[in-house]
Amino acid sequence: MSVVYLSGDYLPAGDAKVSVNDRGFLFGDGVYEVTPAYGGRLFRWVQHLGRLRRGLAAIGIDFEAAPLKQVKEELLARNGLDGASGAYVYVQVTRGTAPRTHWFPDPPVAPTVYAFANRFARPAMEDWARGISAVTVPDQRWARADIKAIALLANVLAAQAAVEAGAGNAIFVRDGIALEGSHNNLFAVFDGVLTTAPKSNYILHGITRDLLIELAGGMGIPVEERTIPLPELYLADEVFFSGTTTEVRPVVEIDGRRVGDGTVGPVVRRLYEGFLGVVQGGQAAG
Ligand code: PDD
Repeated sequence: MSVVYLSGDYLPAGDAKVSVNDRGFLFGDGVYEVTPAYGGRLFRWVQHLGRLRRGLAAIGIDFEAAPLKQVKEELLARNGLDGASGAYVYVQVTRGTAPRTHWFPDPPVAPTVYAFANRFARPAMEDWARGISAVTVPDQRWARADIKAIALLANVLAAQAAVEAGAGNAIFVRDGIALEGSHNNLFAVFDGVLTTAPKSNYILHGITRDLLIELAGGMGIPVEERTIPLPELYLADEVFFSGTTTEVRPVVEIDGRRVGDGTVGPVVRRLYEGFLGVVQGGQAAG
């Protein structure tokens, strides 16, 4: 059985218990972070830590997240993932356990911190190169999608809508604008220009998104961060998702319409190659 971390202790997953009065359970009152690890080394931890800190500050949880680096490394080691080619560590911090009130407990209580590690499977190249389909769904999330809140009901319903449609993923559309995937960012290519929604309160500011924009810069691929209306997305030459565990995933069909010529295009292939070079090439520190 896997070993998990709960508020100071490492213990078998089956023995980890939280109170029914935990505010994560009652209200979804907390934030989370998913950090990839390649060859046992956390990837872009500094960026993931920064986002977690911003999330904690945004919802008023006073918790110093920096020591979670050691927790994450320990979980990778204890679960035999220190050599895994693709692994991730999940951590969530809730406002803690207190009798149910909508407002914060006063005085504050200790946050509940839960973390686990697991491996993820990268698709075989021939499967990757077939691409996936996606369906669009109305974005029913709250207006702070930039906070990595554990309350993910709209994301869950979107992902399930994709499953029920026989698609690989769902794309959130708000006011006619295609924003991001159910648990990933969204990119499109128009005439060689890599295009993605700008950072705002309506998308999660993905760490993988940032990496791909950097890689594109290094490859001389022009990048535009701007809103993409859905009718325009349908006309893109290429579309793909990015994210931790998703990595880079091409989309060849949206709402039953072919993307471009219906095959995986050259820009996403170059970016995926570059991405694999970074994560497999020992640049995983930081
Ligand atoms: N999801 N957008 C949303 C809504 C996400 O939930 C995620 C990540 C991303 C990509 O962010 P990053 O590149 O930093 O992983 C974009 C995580 C992996 C999850 O919920 O499991």
